[in-house]
Amino acid sequence: MAVRVVLALCAVLAACRAAAAEPAAGAASRRRRLSAEEGISFEYHRYAELREALVAVWLQCPAISRIYTVGRSAEGRELLVIEISDRPGEHEPGEPEFKYVGNMHGNEAVGRELLIFLAQYLCNEYQKGNDTIINLIHSTRIHIMPSLNPDGFEKAASQPGELKDWFVGRSNAQGIDLNRNFPDLDRIVYINEKEGGPNNHLLKNMKKAVDQNPKLAPETKGVIHWIMDIPFVLSANLHGGDLVANYPYDETRSGSAHEYSSCPDDAIFQSLARSYSSFNPAMSDPNRPPCRKNDDDSSFVDGTTNGGAWYSVPGGMQDFNYLSSNCFEITVELSCEKFPPEETLKGYWEDNKNSLINYIEQIHRGVKGFVKDLQGNPISNATISVEGISHDITSAKDGDYWRLLVPGNYKLTASAPGYLAITKKVAVPFSPAVVVDFELESLSERKEEEKEELMEWWKMMSETLNF
Ligand SMILES: *[C@@H]1O[C@H](CO)[C@@H](O)[C@H](O)[C@H]1NC(C)=O
Ligand SMILES: *[C@@H]1O[C@H](CO)[C@@H](O)[C@H](O)[C@H]1NC(C)=O
Ligand SMILES: [Zn+2]
Repeated sequence: MAVRVVLALCAVLAACRAAAAEPAAGAASRRRRLSAEEGISFEYHRYAELREALVAVWLQCPAISRIYTVGRSAEGRELLVIEISDRPGEHEPGEPEFKYVGNMHGNEAVGRELLIFLAQYLCNEYQKGNDTIINLIHSTRIHIMPSLNPDGFEKAASQPGELKDWFVGRSNAQGIDLNRNFPDLDRIVYINEKEGGPNNHLLKNMKKAVDQNPKLAPETKGVIHWIMDIPFVLSANLHGGDLVANYPYDETRSGSAHEYSSCPDDAIFQSLARSYSSFNPAMSDPNRPPCRKNDDDSSFVDGTTNGGAWYSVPGGMQDFNYLSSNCFEITVELSCEKFPPEETLKGYWEDNKNSLINYIEQIHRGVKGFVKDLQGNPISNATISVEGISHDITSAKDGDYWRLLVPGNYKLTASAPGYLAITKKVAVPFSPAVVVDFELESLSERKEEEKEELMEWWKMMSETLNF
């Protein structure tokens, strides 16, 4: 049975033959000298080992996990994702979807390892009956991609010795910096702010243009499709080289190098970034010296920073998520060193474990619900707007929506072409999310009703007047 399962997976991943052909990188040939706890081995995982570690989680927890790929790197490595969910492979109506992406810069290695550890931890705690983790997995579909740049990582990790170069392996195999490679939607929204125009879903109907764009790396295309195909609500992109939780916008409005660049959801983004940094003792330490003596950390507040206030980044993945989809993403810098010594990995896990869990839990804040018609049919792609926040989100396939918000009183409007819009008032606590459902009457139904009312009136009048 186990053999059949593994063989089937080999076919899916086309992985096992490659692993056999690369004995030097295979796990068997490496001496496991560092601490391992409950299946978590605190050491760097090369590509073959990364696959093995994810397969091990899947074999241990097959009922709540699934491995899939969103495409291949330039050198043909799989962009592997492990999904942790009580219904692997399925979007359950009303259940929000979360993602973590690590190692987009191939030489920023801590996030890659933390995500492998996290997958194993979720599986272990679920099996042990940990209520927090069981509730989280039952209420959230969690997608974990340890490496968006497996080619870069192999290059970085192949350098001899513990001291790694600051840049080797940052880009993908084509020399493209993946976090500058996304369509620059900030520029479009900054123009729309002045001249009018949409403030969300700016890539609508442009999937084909994305596929045909020769400037986009295969890794970038893979992740864009992923963002477009799954109704993600919240995510984080894990980097290294500093210690801070960074939130949108990353690109400045004026084009200057440093400038606070608030997005319409500044309040919730500040709160989301804090929900990560505040559980990490090193990141939130107000007396922490800068990573390097001359670093400008003046924009850092409680271990968080606005992206543009720190330094302007055009074409990043974080703002792309916010402006092309319903997904709110922050970027977390996990470590002063990009590729720290292996012995330190366990310490990074201890520092980040609670942050990683607490951040996922933020997905259950704000307002959520369904948009349906009067017959109870879901209305997908309905617009949910919040008075005072010029960033709309849309309902997913089953009419389900999630609107992250900080505590406060709000007016929410649901609208869709061909329907009468409805506005509701809602008081939002810190958590959990308040359920607000909308039942929209279609305009043609309304016309029917008006016609019937007129007929009734006419009948009554003719009876009364006796003609
Ligand atoms: C259950 O998981 C939570 C979240 O990671 C953790 O804080 C807690 O200590 C765990 N409980 C036990 C009994 O280990
Ligand atoms: C979603 O709705 C918007 C506006 O209501 C419309 O412009 C867009 O084409 C719709 N998209 C899809 C995929 O139906
Ligand atoms: Zn980076």
